[in-house]
Amino acid sequence: MTEGVRIREGGTELLVPEQHSSGGPGKIFDTVFFNEQMAFNRDISIMFLRALGKHLKVADCMTATGSRAVRIANEVPDTEVVANDINPGTIPYIEENIRLNNLTNCRANRENLHVLLAKEVFDYVDLDPFGSPVPFLHSAIQGCKRNGYLAVTATDTAPLAGAHRAKCERRYGARPLRGPMCHEMALRILIGFIAREAAKFDKGIIPMLSFSIDHYVRTYVQMKNGAAAADDSLSQLVYVAYDPETLERSISPTPDEKHCYGPVWGGKLFDRDLLERMSPEGMADEKRCARMLKVWREELDCNPYMYDVSEIASNVKVSTPRYDDFMEALSKEGAASRTHMSPTGFKTDLPVKRIKEIFSEVASRQ
Ligand SMILES: C[S@@+](CC[C@H](N)C(=O)[O-])C[C@H]1O[C@@H](n2cnc3c(N)ncnc32)[C@H](O)[C@@H]1O
Repeated sequence: MTEGVRIREGGTELLVPEQHSSGGPGKIFDTVFFNEQMAFNRDISIMFLRALGKHLKVADCMTATGSRAVRIANEVPDTEVVANDINPGTIPYIEENIRLNNLTNCRANRENLHVLLAKEVFDYVDLDPFGSPVPFLHSAIQGCKRNGYLAVTATDTAPLAGAHRAKCERRYGARPLRGPMCHEMALRILIGFIAREAAKFDKGIIPMLSFSIDHYVRTYVQMKNGAAAADDSLSQLVYVAYDPETLERSISPTPDEKHCYGPVWGGKLFDRDLLERMSPEGMADEKRCARMLKVWREELDCNPYMYDVSEIASNVKVSTPRYDDFMEALSKEGAASRTHMSPTGFKTDLPVKRIKEIFSEVASRQ
């Protein structure tokens, strides 16, 4: 019998190794990986796939205990799922989890994902590696059917968010930016990289749901076949300028002395209709899912990229006003929203000069 503890996540029973991570990027205990904190990440997959509302052949390529694959097979109607992992130690967990939930639409598979995706194609391919997804992307793109979906996690946020600039340039061919925009830049570098990799195969991408949460970034994109789709995606890559003196951000389709960060994905991060169709009902962390859906639905999907109240406060040298009062004042003059990427972050289409004035005005009233 496989050793472990039984837990319930969403609507699914899972057997997981007794020693497992409960936060952060996670550690490999017992040779088979499981991170309780990623339940929310798996919730998002369930909400996303349910909202697509169609028959899906799914490859959870790096499934470990099978937690995501088995949840998908159990909680998303009309799915056939391959729960794959290269590590032989995972197979008893995957098989036990299939049995615990009486599933006939999920199969355990032990293969290098490059082999699996060279043999079969899927409507949905999920990549959830330790660290960077870069070594796996070619195979994942080739393993996606026409108009299929690809979900990619990256936990190598130190390079992506600019703490290891040279590593980011080597891995992703993009220059990252430290500071208040670093999470949005990390996410956009990942999506930009996927667009460039897909273009090599004459494929384009449409990001449907993209986020930076906890210790990782993740995006769900739809693949579009054809050179025109590839060119359209490439045309959405931009270079970013950031002036720490003025806080001015701007983008340009080509790099220059100022616009030297990137290339990053300059297009939309979300599909609004899909967000409307996603429901938190029955998720492991229903409250967090509902809160996140609300923020995503309201979040501006625009340039310039996110600001943080602390960067404005230290720039204008006043203490930070109450967040809600400041946001209300911004909204009276332009479009303004929270961002899911930081509780102290915000987005607005107002010019930075006006943002600073409003900030000081609100601060002076408190
Ligand atoms: C971060 S864990 C996945 C966690 C899992 N998705 C979850 O939600 O619990 C990464 C997994 O990828 C597997 N892996 C690494 N390289 C692989 C490869 N080339 N093909 C298939 N699986 C691989 C590892 O064995 C490990 O179980």
